[in-house]
Formats: sequence, structure tokens, C-alpha cells
Amino acid sequence: MRVLITGGAGFIASHLADYLLENGHSVVALDDLSTGRHSNVEHLLGGPNFEFVLGSILNPDVVDDVVGRCEAVFHLAAAVGVHLIVNHPLRSLATNIRGSEIVFEKANKYGTRVLVTSSSEIYGKNRSDRLHEDDDRILGSPLKSRWAYSEAKAIDEILAYTYWKEKGLPAVIVRLFNTVGPRQTGAYGMVIPRFVAQALRNEPITVYGDGTQTRCFCYVGDIVRALAALIEHPDAYGRVFNLGSDDEVSVQRLAEIVREEAGSHSEIQNVAYEVAYEEGFEDMARRVPDTTRARELVGFKPTVGLREIIRLVIEEQSLAL
Ligand SMILES: NC(=O)c1ccc[n+]([C@@H]2O[C@H](COP(=O)([O-])OP(=O)(O)OC[C@H]3O[C@@H](n4cnc5c(N)ncnc54)[C@H](O)[C@@H]3O)[C@@H](O)[C@H]2O)c1
Repeated sequence: MRVLITGGAGFIASHLADYLLENGHSVVALDDLSTGRHSNVEHLLGGPNFEFVLGSILNPDVVDDVVGRCEAVFHLAAAVGVHLIVNHPLRSLATNIRGSEIVFEKANKYGTRVLVTSSSEIYGKNRSDRLHEDDDRILGSPLKSRWAYSEAKAIDEILAYTYWKEKGLPAVIVRLFNTVGPRQTGAYGMVIPRFVAQALRNEPITVYGDGTQTRCFCYVGDIVRALAALIEHPDAYGRVFNLGSDDEVSVQRLAEIVREEAGSHSEIQNVAYEVAYEEGFEDMARRVPDTTRARELVGFKPTVGLREIIRLVIEEQSLAL
């Protein structure tokens, strides 16, 4: 199969490209390199089954060309990361709403199956024990940038779902919870690469808020296998799937584990949300997924533990020092 990955030079997308190529597919990666990095796909350039297209999902002609040449579309391009969303809200909204609309329009034009990566941000402040796909969204005002990202991803979901329902477009929606591993950049607020960089430099590890908020971190390799399986499964179309780990850890404890694994002397410092982000910033206290649906359909199961993931990120960053 020839497959298009939008945002193909990004963190998750580049691992997906590796996986698809290893499994005999051809990959076209479309990216404007806004947060993605050429270095993520450098090892693939020049390969007979890999093509990199520098361009934006906001350009309908470019999207038309690449979608028209592929049999499946993984739509991963997005403005990602709380810092980016808070600092560049308008650009982020355009990418995450208009960009997605263009991708779905073109997928529908060619009848090409599409998978879109939505986010656990959809659930907002819902702190249920295990968030199920049908659970309610609890959001703050859309005038707060953080919730604007959630709203944009919700529109992506509605578009994908409606194209499936009204036009019969084979569309799958995936809500990713924190996905981590090598190649993720800390530049836009992602916590593990940021903590690892601070620990390796023996600088203070800065925990936003009081650190009692919890998250579950899933290895990117486990996620991309599930994405590939879901787009091929006919029973996945018109449905939404949570993907993530249910191994819950507080952000304070995460900082301690990173420090231990890095053998670092960093102190751990708490930074108020208002200082880290913006006045009135709201965070979620916890976020744990129920992934029964993906497990039952495609056998999704995280296989890499948190310490192992952290070691891989430390190894990658140590090589770059
Ligand atoms: N990493 C996570 O924990 C996580 C969690 C929830 C959802 N997601 C979703 O997964 C997807 C991939 O995220 P990631 O973590 O790999 O981030 P990433 O920033 O590495 O990937 C996004 C990619 O999209 C590209 N891009 C942005 N705007 C574009 C445009 N207009 N045209 C073409 N390319 C554009 C960027 O350059 C980048 O390569 C995103 O849709 C994101 O919302 C990620």
C-alpha cells in the first residue's frame, strides 16, 4: 500500500513511517517542518519507498496531489504542545481546523481511507478513573487557549465521523493519551524530553504546578502498531479509540524517576502554572484511559514500561550532547 502521513516529519509520524516501511508499505510524508524535524526522517530519505514532500496541509493543491497518489491517509499534522497552542493560538487553530478540513475533503474526493489522531484533551477536566470513549467532555471556556485545542480536535472528530456517516468515507478516530519516546522534542512543553534535558545538564527539573497531577505515558512504538492495525480494520471505521497506557504516575514522581535514571544532581523545582503558561491556565488533575475497545478490536497492549522509555530518551539525548 502507498500511504500518506501528514505531519510526516513529526515525532509519532516518523516512528509510524519506520513501522510501515518495515512492513512493506510505501510512505509519502507531507510536513511543513513547523515543529517536525528533518532529522526525524533523514535516515529514510533516498530510500526507494519513501518520499518527503515539504508543504502544508493548508495548501489544497499540495494535499490534493499527495492524497490522490495514496491508498490510505494517516492525518497526524497538527499544532501540538501546550506552549505552542498558548503562544500561537490563531496559527494553531488554522492548522488544526482548516488543515484537517482540507485533508478530509481530499480523502473524500478520492475515497481514500483516513485515520485522524485526536487527543485525550477531548475529555478536558473529566477526572474519571478510566476515561471511556463515550465519557463526557468537561471543558473550561473556549477563550482559554488550552481548551481551544480540545475544541479544534473535537471538530476534527466530528468532521471525520460525519464524512463516514454521510459519505461513507472509511474514517477512524484515535484519541492519543501521552505518547513518548525518542525524537519527541521538549521545545513545546512535552514533559519527558524537557525533564531529561534538565537532568542531564544537572539544572533544576521544573515541575509545573504542585506535581500531584498524574499522567500515563505510552511508548510510541506501541502506539504506531495500533494505528497501522486500526486503519486496516473495517470495523474501526466511524468509531473512536483511546490509545495510551494506564500506568499512572504523578508528575512529581516522574521528575524523581528521571533524576534517578539520569544519575543527576538536579533539584526539583515547582513553577506556578501562571509563570509556566499564562494567567488563569487550567490543568487536568489526572488522565487515565480505558483502552478496552482498541484491545478487543486490534489487541492493543502497551509493552514498554516507564523506566525503559525514560532510559531510551536519556540514551538519545546523551548521544546528542
Ligand atoms: N505526543 C502526544 O502525546 C500526543 C497526544 C495526543 C495527540 N497527539 C496528536 O498526534 C499527532 C502527532 O503529534 P506529535 O506528538 O508527533 O507532534 P509533532 O509536533 O512532532 O508532529 C506534528 C507534525 O505536524 C507538522 N505540521 C504542523 N503543521 C503543519 C501543516 N500546516 N502542514 C504540514 N505539517 C504540519 C509538524 O511540523 C510536525 O512534524 C498530532 O495530531 C497530535 O495532536 C499527540
